[in-house]
Amino acid sequence: MTEHVSRRLPRHIGIIMDGNGRWAQRQGLDRIEGHRVGAESVRDITRAARELGVEALTLYAFSSQNWQRPVEEVMGLMQLLQDYLVGERAEILDNGIRLRAIGDSEKLPGTVRATLDELVGASAANRGMTLTLALSYGGRESIARAVRAVARDAAAGTLRPDDVDVDRFGGYLQTAGLPPLDLLIRTSGEQRISNFLLWEIAYAELIFVDALWPEFRRAHLHACLEQYGARERRFGLTSDQVASDVESS
Ligand code: IPE
Ligand code: IPE
Ligand code: MG
Repeated sequence: MTEHVSRRLPRHIGIIMDGNGRWAQRQGLDRIEGHRVGAESVRDITRAARELGVEALTLYAFSSQNWQRPVEEVMGLMQLLQDYLVGERAEILDNGIRLRAIGDSEKLPGTVRATLDELVGASAANRGMTLTLALSYGGRESIARAVRAVARDAAAGTLRPDDVDVDRFGGYLQTAGLPPLDLLIRTSGEQRISNFLLWEIAYAELIFVDALWPEFRRAHLHACLEQYGARERRFGLTSDQVASDVESS
């Protein structure tokens, strides 16, 4: 059986970082304290992924729908995001991490956006690992954005409608250029996608863990990678075909 098993490291991991509010409420704290400790998990997981040699890590930090939360929570999250970007600047640059953002970043407060844009620019030439923050992000919104761009190019006559295939369309998404998503992890026990990378999850392995995001540290990531490594990814083929591919590679 072992030859059927992929022992490879995922090239691209996505994480739905959920459970901050429940973690805080269980300790009798404000929800925002959960987000604060969650930022520490972000630091630990980013560092661990970088050390393991993961090429791309995409973190769902704030959804298009999260704007509808109470205004104090939204403001608190925006302040934590600003603190994170300022506080992690050196760590990101010193470790060769390339920072990117996906989502409607134009909806972020001006200061956060300026800080984000500056760090995205300053880290653009780094090749260590691509860290993508999904901010004001929705999978459906992101597909609609890409469709608008496709429609604009078709109307301008620079794109033939018949040429729009999976690869061409993928090139219009904000995740274009990232490796295919291999592994999606969601914390907090919820088993749903909540409008994360809808197009990109096509063949991702999904792992749902009970740990709440503020508790999720590198040991949890290692356990997920262990599970991932034990799965057979078939991409529509038969198990025998996959096994002979593995032997010949
Ligand atoms: C995830 O934690 C962080 C964001 C969505 C911004 P939650 O804030 O959703 O925490 P729970 O799910 O309410 O526990
Ligand atoms: C998904 O979590 C969004 C992020 C982790 C940023 P939510 O807490 O917003 O998702 P639902 O409401 O449980 O589906
Ligand atoms: Mg939640």
